[in-house]
Parts: sequence; C-alpha cells; structure tokens
Amino acid sequence: MRMSGGSRTLKILTLTYAGMIFLAIAWGGYVRAYGAGMGCGPDWPLCNGYLIPPDLFTDMRVFLEYFHRIIAFLTGWVALGATIYILARYRHDKPLLLALVAVDTLLLIQITIGMYVVATHLDPFLSATHLAVASATFAASVVLATLSMRR
Ligand code: HEM
Repeated sequence: MRMSGGSRTLKILTLTYAGMIFLAIAWGGYVRAYGAGMGCGPDWPLCNGYLIPPDLFTDMRVFLEYFHRIIAFLTGWVALGATIYILARYRHDKPLLLALVAVDTLLLIQITIGMYVVATHLDPFLSATHLAVASATFAASVVLATLSMRR
C-alpha cells in the first residue's frame, strides 16, 4: 500500500525523533563509561567557556561530552520540526497529540537535568535520574512513532 505524502512525513519525523533519542542514550552511556562527564566542565550551554573548545579533537573527554550535547541539540531541532508538523496537520488527533506532548515534555526535563548533572559535578542522584528519564523519553518516542505508523 502506498503511503500518502502527509503520513510519510509524519513517519519519517517521528522515527527520526526516536532514533535521535536512542543515539543520545547510546552516546551518553559511552560518556559515563569513559568518565567523560566533566569533559566540558560545569558550563552549559558553553563547553569549558567556548562555543567550540580548542581541544575538541585532541581530548577524548571533551569530544565525547561535546558531541553528547550536540546530539541533544539536534534532537531538539527534530522535536521542533515534529511538533510544528503535528500541530499543523494532526492537532485533532488526541492520542498522537498526547504522545507528542509526553515526548517533548520529557525531552525538556532531560536536557534540564543534563544541565544540573554537570553543574553539580555529576551528582550521583541526578546522574541516575538522567538515565531514568532517558528511558522514559525513549519509551514515549516509540509510542509516538508507533501511533504514526497507523496514520
Ligand atoms: C536528548 C537528550 C539526552 C539524553 C537522551 C541523554 C541521555 C544520557 C544517558 C543515557 C547517559 C548515560 C547515563 C548512565 O550511563 O548512567 C547520559 C550521560 C550524561 N549526560 Fe546526557 N542525555 C541528554 C542530554 C544531555 C545534555 C543536554 C547534557 C548536558 C548539558 C547531558 C549531560 C550528560 C552527562 C554529563 C552525562 C554523564 C553523567 C555521568 O558521568 O555520571 N546530557 N546522558
């Protein structure tokens, strides 16, 4: 069965959204395992006081933490695109809207927790919360993508 143009865009957007969250989680695990959590210092959104730190490609810790943030930043743009698209075309679709609001809200909370994780020099409770909210965000994004498959 051929997908209509509109629903194809919806599928691509929501699958990309879930894929980006998955990538951020996998990359975040590497950040943690490598001990690179303070690679950008306690700064946010800057990294060690820079927009692009000079040792980005020479210090693995800086590289890992910096690109974890870049992935989150790009996820934010995908979130914005998906949100604008769904609000424009599917705002009367309650289940889809509910799933969208859940993913967007969890993503905002997740990025805010990330900011506090570095500001507190990797407080264990906040770091564990960052992992827990990451799982919830991914779960919600899978629900959103699954609902989109039926539109
Ligand atoms: C899409 C948004 C994000 C997701 C899904 C995400 C997910 C994760 C995950 C799953 C981990 C590994 C946790 C663990 O193994 O215990 C992690 C680690 C980390 N994340 Fe994020 N993250 C996001 C955004 C951010 C942002 C914006 C920041 C910083 C401002 C940040 C800072 C960190 C730090 C510092 C660690 C290492 C924590 C540690 O070593 O204890 N994250 N992230």
